[in-house]
Amino acid sequence: MQVDINHFLIIVRGGIFNNIKIQVESKRKEYTEGFLKDGISLSDVWTDIPALPHNSKEKVNHPTQKPLKLIDRIVKIGTNEGDLILDNVCGSGTTGLASITLGRKFIGIEKEKEYYDISIKRIGDALTQINSKATQLF
Ligand SMILES: C[S@@+](CC[C@H](N)C(=O)[O-])C[C@H]1O[C@@H](n2cnc3c(N)ncnc32)[C@H](O)[C@@H]1O
Repeated sequence: MQVDINHFLIIVRGGIFNNIKIQVESKRKEYTEGFLKDGISLSDVWTDIPALPHNSKEKVNHPTQKPLKLIDRIVKIGTNEGDLILDNVCGSGTTGLASITLGRKFIGIEKEKEYYDISIKRIGDALTQINSKATQLF
């Protein structure tokens, strides 16, 4: 069986479904100052987030790493701040990175040590940045 990992189906039954808006890159007045300036509602099919190119700054050494922007969006839709997110196949830790930068708690499970180490580094770096920003407030 071949699984196309670049397509997701999100099924929400009960629980949380936050309606979020996305910004449209357009200079048209309705988008810059008109009734669409806060963005547009998401449609059922998302075509605005491409797969990560191999030379992306975000790219680490994981073959099926997802774009942070995609996982950020899913986290925002399906959870609220303070919620606990479990990713039991966490790979390079993109879900963890999205979770902690968006104020959620995170538990990740990864069987490959190499990818586990990448996750720890990515999430650790983000936490360091968050904590340094918090310290700068005082
Ligand atoms: C599709 S990748 C996840 C990619 C991730 N979303 C990212 O952005 O990097 C799935 C990961 O699950 C791990 N995995 C597969 N079976 C597992 C298991 N039984 N327990 C823990 N991790 C597992 C694989 O090693 C792989 O890194």
